[in-house]
Amino acid sequence: MGENYTGTADDRRYSSEAVDVTYNLKRCIHAAECVSRLNEVFDIQKRPWIQPGNSTADAVVETVSLCPSGALHTERNDGGAGETVPGENVIIVHEDSYYQFTGDIDLHGSNVAIEQEVRAALCRCGLSENKPFCDNSHKKDFVAPAAMVEMGGGKTAETGGKLLVTVHENGSIEVNGNFELRDAQGNTIHHGSNTWLCRCGQSSKKPFCDGTHKRVGFVAP
Ligand code: SF4
Ligand code: FES
Repeated sequence: MGENYTGTADDRRYSSEAVDVTYNLKRCIHAAECVSRLNEVFDIQKRPWIQPGNSTADAVVETVSLCPSGALHTERNDGGAGETVPGENVIIVHEDSYYQFTGDIDLHGSNVAIEQEVRAALCRCGLSENKPFCDNSHKKDFVAPAAMVEMGGGKTAETGGKLLVTVHENGSIEVNGNFELRDAQGNTIHHGSNTWLCRCGQSSKKPFCDGTHKRVGFVAP
């Protein structure tokens, strides 16, 4: 793949002369950004459901860049501009829902190894069958505000540079690198350069890990 994404074995490729689209079904959270924004290309009534040649490559790249889960990526064949790596790292903590990462991300650890990523929806309820990614299992009964704990000021106001996201087996998501945590309304929860985010869903200091995963025997291979 291109500079913004190094790909996984599960990705399925849909080609056209100007641009290829890859799709990872297991990472799709069915937010439907793609089908609602560019239905001539993304149409679940058609086979194949992705037909990148039905619009301009620029429109395909723009739409794919809005996919919150990282299930979709593009690769230009015509020399045009692909999706750029964001200059800031942002983690949106969705209420009762998932972590939405955007940035210059290296995502690795338990059950994942993606050296270069720009978007990812990661589980924070502990129930996903496709950990560390979200699979919408939070919709069953996960209740969690964006932030139970206000951490106060941060260590840094910087938000750029490489973001190392390490998924710990049976534990939290460790984040190293400059980043900003926000709620879905855009309010800043925390600025920092390293933290541990809860992914067992049971911390009393959400979105931060407080060690509860050990007490409750959280199992996440
Ligand atoms: S925008 Fe991404 S997450 Fe949403 S339905 Fe399309 S592929 Fe799935
Ligand atoms: S991952 Fe939830 S408390 Fe550590």
